[in-house]
Amino acid sequence: MTTSNFANRPFDGQAAIVTGAASGIGLATLELLHAQGANVVAVDRDDGVRALARPGVEPLVADISREESAVMAVRTAVERYGRLDILVNNAGIIINKPVIDMTLDEWNSIQAVNATGAFLFSREAMRVMAPAGHGAIVNVGSYACYQAFPTIAAYAASKGALAQLTRALSLEAIEHNVRVNAVGSGDVVTNITNHIHEDGPKFLAEHGRNAPIRRAAQPNEIAEVIAFLASEKASYIVGAVVMADGGMSVALR
Ligand SMILES: NC(=O)c1ccc[n+]([C@@H]2O[C@H](COP(=O)([O-])OP(=O)(O)OC[C@H]3O[C@@H](n4cnc5c(N)ncnc54)[C@H](O)[C@@H]3O)[C@@H](O)[C@H]2O)c1
Repeated sequence: MTTSNFANRPFDGQAAIVTGAASGIGLATLELLHAQGANVVAVDRDDGVRALARPGVEPLVADISREESAVMAVRTAVERYGRLDILVNNAGIIINKPVIDMTLDEWNSIQAVNATGAFLFSREAMRVMAPAGHGAIVNVGSYACYQAFPTIAAYAASKGALAQLTRALSLEAIEHNVRVNAVGSGDVVTNITNHIHEDGPKFLAEHGRNAPIRRAAQPNEIAEVIAFLASEKASYIVGAVVMADGGMSVALR
């Protein structure tokens, strides 16, 4: 491969799994990794993910909080593409509710997707990456890895857990030349709050104006950071939560 080929298509011949690939940040990440040469297993519980099927994109309809989904996703990558180089733990959900009103099922469902799902997929990916002595895992965190405001206790707890999973697993994984990192995303104009707000993307676009940058991100701005962390360009980054939040974690306005 020539130097310019590597610059444009750093993932040529590699295989990736992206969870939550049917929408928002996951969809943008799938498109970017694929455009840069990766074959991608696109996992989502929304069967709209099937429409993404094409050469180099293998959709898988699955709930990431289930153990068998992680097993199936990794098996699909290995059977289809003969390898697994990249895992992007992106799928996530949110509720806005004060703790005093929150049911145990609501709390558990947030942890099951945002924290346990990432654990399950990371474990299965490591079972292939560790023997191969190569790989990168990127978790999609949030400014809620560190910060909080009222009504996001379940979400903030799950993203705090994800940040600590990132750090602890990174220490085990680097022994096998597998780098584990996270992106700490700010507000992004996606569908994640559609079940809470009449116009979810509009709400996020407005909420993003609280960041020093005075706007929310578009999904591709987070996908670029994910792709960077997954690539050899990030070869010395281990166990980091790289903030891409328009300064939200520095100061709210
Ligand atoms: N949008 C934001 O403002 C923002 C901010 C910080 C962090 N994040 C994080 O970014 C990630 C992606 O969110 P988004 O904003 O793109 O949301 P989105 O709702 O647009 O996309 C999330 C996708 O994940 C899928 N998904 C949800 N639960 C799943 C499950 N159990 N199994 C399989 N798929 C599942 C959904 O079907 C959807 O396609 C999440 O982890 C979220 O916490 C988003």
